[in-house]
Amino acid sequence: GWAASRSLNREPLIYDDEQKGLKKQIIIYFSHVVAENTPKGLAAQKFAELVEKKTNGRVKVEVFPNGSLYSDGEELDALLRGDVQMIAPSFSKVTELIPEWQVLDLPFLFRDDDHVRCVFTGKVGVELLQMLEAKGIKGLAFWSNGFKQMMGTNRPLMEPDDFRGLRFRIMPSEVIERQFRLLGGEPIAVSFDRVYQELEQHKFDGQENTISNIYSKGFYKFQPYITISNHGYLGYVVMMNQSFWDRLPKDIQQKITEAMAEATNWNLQQSKEQNERELQQLEQRDGVHLYMLSETEKKKWEQKFTPLYEEFARQFGFKLLNEIKKSCE
Ligand code: LMR
Repeated sequence: GWAASRSLNREPLIYDDEQKGLKKQIIIYFSHVVAENTPKGLAAQKFAELVEKKTNGRVKVEVFPNGSLYSDGEELDALLRGDVQMIAPSFSKVTELIPEWQVLDLPFLFRDDDHVRCVFTGKVGVELLQMLEAKGIKGLAFWSNGFKQMMGTNRPLMEPDDFRGLRFRIMPSEVIERQFRLLGGEPIAVSFDRVYQELEQHKFDGQENTISNIYSKGFYKFQPYITISNHGYLGYVVMMNQSFWDRLPKDIQQKITEAMAEATNWNLQQSKEQNERELQQLEQRDGVHLYMLSETEKKKWEQKFTPLYEEFARQFGFKLLNEIKKSCE
């Protein structure tokens, strides 16, 4: 991975010889951290195919899955440096750069998939992308993975007290860190590519993730107690290096925008189906224990998480929070 990433440290080919009639190909490196057969992996592949087709091969998108170019801790810097042209990090991983994005990590913020769709295709989506622009990043779209579930190594996590004293792998995110602390757990930020290995070494007692990530990476082998809590949402923002985007010919920008809109639509439906299908498959695995969080238990979790909303509002005000809550009510 590292050697490959070093050799990419160069200007991508740009279609700059049109007058001379030279057909240079534009290469876009798209790096991500999850498996190929996941909502993000498949959407990236779909986007690549659409771009190639729509531009008659003038643009080639090369997708690098599984963190093979950059781990999640490195990819944002790599994008800003221009070592890679596209990434699609989870919202949590953007919060270091744009703290207001912490709102998206608040547990039980999104009611369901329709609410998610409303928020990101509406006014809030535009505002979020503008915040990126201010940081020199071209935001192209929001992709969905799905809702996160809780996993335990030795027993199911049902009551808030079940979390006490346990160590949890988290993504780097202040809100998620606080979420586990409020439950009495000990959160440890670990980059996605290291999770499997650290599970093997029994470094933590639990974590949260979507079914497709749990399934594709085999996390359930070590943490077979899965509580269907849908407490948090895992979404992605698809980004392009701004100066790379600015240097693309207008017609190419147009084609990329069209391809992205199509891939995004496809992803919304596909991610839902994939998580549902893989949940059924997990249900049939020996040794995997699924538990549905009850309404009463959910109320208790929500109550525990109230300070997160207060803390967010104190720091950033109510505007974004209310806009999200009121979307499509
Ligand atoms: C994680 O670190 O668990 C996820 O953000 C990975 C991903 O990109 O879905």
